[in-house]
Amino acid sequence: MTSILEQLQDSVSQALLSAFGDELADTDPLVTSTNNPQFGDYQSNVALSLAKPLKQNPRAIAQAIIDHLQIEDMCETPTIAGPGFINFTLKSSYLEQLLSQIQSDKRLGIPQVQPKSKVIVDFSSPNIAKEMHVGHLRSTIIGDAIARILEFRGYQVLRLNHVGDWGTQFGMLIAYLREAYPEALTTANALNIGDLVSLYKQAKVRFDEDEEFKQTARQEVVKLQAGAEDSLHAWQLLCDQSRQEFQVIYNLLNIKLEERGESFYNPFLEGTVSELKQTGLLEESEGAMCVFLDGFTNKDGNPLPLIVQKTDGGFNYATTDLAAIKYRVKEDGANKIIYVTDSGQANHFAAVFQVARKAKILPDEVEVVHVPFGLVLGKDGKRIKTRSGETFKLKDLLDEAVDYARAELETRLEAEARKETPEFINHVAQVTGLSAVKYADLSQNRTSDYKFDFDKMLDLKGNTAPYLLYAYVRPQGVSRKGNIDFSALDQNTKIVLTEDAELVLAKHILQFEEVLKEVESSLLPNRICLYLFELSQKFNQFYEQCEILNAAEPQRTSRLILADLTARTIKLGLSLLGINVLERM
Ligand code: ARG
Repeated sequence: MTSILEQLQDSVSQALLSAFGDELADTDPLVTSTNNPQFGDYQSNVALSLAKPLKQNPRAIAQAIIDHLQIEDMCETPTIAGPGFINFTLKSSYLEQLLSQIQSDKRLGIPQVQPKSKVIVDFSSPNIAKEMHVGHLRSTIIGDAIARILEFRGYQVLRLNHVGDWGTQFGMLIAYLREAYPEALTTANALNIGDLVSLYKQAKVRFDEDEEFKQTARQEVVKLQAGAEDSLHAWQLLCDQSRQEFQVIYNLLNIKLEERGESFYNPFLEGTVSELKQTGLLEESEGAMCVFLDGFTNKDGNPLPLIVQKTDGGFNYATTDLAAIKYRVKEDGANKIIYVTDSGQANHFAAVFQVARKAKILPDEVEVVHVPFGLVLGKDGKRIKTRSGETFKLKDLLDEAVDYARAELETRLEAEARKETPEFINHVAQVTGLSAVKYADLSQNRTSDYKFDFDKMLDLKGNTAPYLLYAYVRPQGVSRKGNIDFSALDQNTKIVLTEDAELVLAKHILQFEEVLKEVESSLLPNRICLYLFELSQKFNQFYEQCEILNAAEPQRTSRLILADLTARTIKLGLSLLGINVLERM
């Protein structure tokens, strides 16, 4: 379908052309949906913006636009408000017709993009042998939602896990493995070396305290880079171990990702640097090879460099990202590359993108976007801790969310004197707890820091996962009570919208497409959360104000269709956020 917003935009653009001629061909019609029913459902501010260039009174311009508008099917006659706003009120017949259209469509009328261009979403990307921390959790949750939204819209999405699996820290780790677990370097079967994070810590202690060990570690790096078999074996072992730990989290959160770590780009690093050399961008500065950047200066006002080869000849994070861009453009055929990391890396990406553009590694037509997000804080605004006060592991944090959800559920069951099986309780607790964590993260504007608060995220009231899961369960309850199969509702029943609550709900259901298209460009999933939250509120009002099962026909079926469309929209919306619904809770 074309969304209501798009249809109005087209109509206003047309009216501008017929009223004022071709010179207004590229004028933005400035149509937005309104939040205040007093101003109708949509409004256009274009008349105000044209007052100066056209040297006319904005109300007169508004009138001229209205005179040329052809929207009788969609709207009541538009009105002019205040200095020249044009207000549109949708006709119920039009809403009824659109609802019938989406009712019979599995995609709820939301079209797929053409052409199906290719988008890479680089997200999660934890580092081998280090803790996967809350920052990576945010990247995982936000990146997965973005990938799902784009997939649903029909893009070819490549989900890449750019894990930190290369670098000097491996010298230290392998040197320590040789000392503490010599068998690991020779046995074919991966040996369980237990907790990698403490291995890392022990290795770091050795590295910091012993000069000789430090030397060995440095030699190990060289050996590894030269491809010595036993070093590679040890490296592989470390990667496998970490991979298993990451996978536990991905399984819990139902995340699909293709691993293509930093090491993958090793063979291309030298070539990337010589390419920079050929373009004349490369300069030597204090022994390092770098490219000086436009718009990046130090506090003395001198240009800052992006280092691509260190004094010791080694390559770094930036070199790898440049090589990765080249590969993703040339080999993967990406039209757009999205990077989901904390805001702390904004300068890194801005610098890498600039150099890649200048060197023509990144062609003008390929878009690159850094999607930054803020920090995760504890309830107290400080570093986040577990209930027992320790800093935690991600797995423990997720388990704790499920425990909280279970406790909440058990209290509720007791209060309602309901008996449920342990399977039911486990399933509901698992879905609610994990959804709550995802939703709490996604419902915030990602650019701000957010406070991790179990009580808040599991609150049954407010913009939370449980509230939305409930809003989905309600229509299912209606269908159970009335013995109604929503999917078998008569497609030919006329939808009739008479009550305010019905109209408000209907309009909102029909705005999902607009919201999705907006999120597709802003990459702000919190817009979807807000949309779903408002949808649930409007449904709850409708549910309180309008009889469904006891209503007379044609209202009864019409309202059942509204309930079903609400539920399907919530289910689809949540699925785009990586959240599964429950039929009962
Ligand atoms: N491993 C990095 C980190 O933990 C994130 C990598 C993001 N992706 C990229 N292409 N640089 O901060």
